[in-house]
Amino acid sequence: MTAIIMDGKQVAVLVKDEVRREADRLQELGVGTCLATVLVGDDPASRSYLKMKHKACGEVGIISKNYELPASASQNEVLDLIDTLNRDNNVHGILVQLPLPGNIDSFQIIEGLLPAKDVDGLNPINLGRISYRKHSIFPCTPKGIMALLNHYEINVAGKHLVILNRSNLVGKPLYQLLTTVDPMQVLPLNTDMLMLNQDATVTMCHSKTPLVDKYTREADILITAVGKRPEFVVTADMVKEGAVVIDVGVSRMGSKLYGDVDFESVRDRAGYLTPVPGGVGPMTIAMLLHNTVITAAEQTKNTIVHLVKRWV
Ligand code: GUN
Repeated sequence: MTAIIMDGKQVAVLVKDEVRREADRLQELGVGTCLATVLVGDDPASRSYLKMKHKACGEVGIISKNYELPASASQNEVLDLIDTLNRDNNVHGILVQLPLPGNIDSFQIIEGLLPAKDVDGLNPINLGRISYRKHSIFPCTPKGIMALLNHYEINVAGKHLVILNRSNLVGKPLYQLLTTVDPMQVLPLNTDMLMLNQDATVTMCHSKTPLVDKYTREADILITAVGKRPEFVVTADMVKEGAVVIDVGVSRMGSKLYGDVDFESVRDRAGYLTPVPGGVGPMTIAMLLHNTVITAAEQTKNTIVHLVKRWV
């Protein structure tokens, strides 16, 4: 068997087309959709991710601004910047690039984001609302994975899904999206994509799971987000024949990026496989843009309602 390669770059273009249409519509209403990013310190990987995010904003007509603080910045300095951006009516989305330097309490920073502007969907209000199946902003990577599965018409209902990750950024929201969330809430702008995903049976594994292969071999759909090569690699013998394998891991070795999956061997065993780079990465960025136009549209609606209220 040779796996069908799930082309995240190509599906991201479809999402970006839709985002551009929405950004244009907002522009016609006089709203320039704007994303503000915050970088604390000078981590080269974070800087390179941010560069890609800003480039993508430019491609779809989203204004993007980057705010930088030195690694020596205090907790209050970061919170003050967040507060300024929260209050700025011209900024619709705020992304604080993670990880933050060790002296900063990341939770307090994320909690300080106005939930309506939290385009990462990581604020406890937004993450918590997912548990209650209420409309919210969904974290970009899980949302991107959903859209990829939808695009390739992979129905998760009744399937055994194994996730190797338990973080707030990937594993936990992914579990919610693939089991109980109404897919129409995840991609509310999108009318073209098939909405198939719900009712999976999910096993969540993590770094302390003994004999992780036992679980991966049972997965109809395996989603791996470990990022610790060469210590951890998903090899062909860990994958069920014909499984869908989604690789979220990114490890830099020398100048090259690698996923968690040993691509060449797993390709001959899996039914579907995402490459690294070019799989989940472009989808995550596309969903950041998607979240940004959604927040801008929501804030604009609120502004209009607010103005109408003021007029009457
Ligand atoms: N660092 C790695 N991935 C992400 C992400 O999706 N959002 C933010 N803010 N930081 C990250």
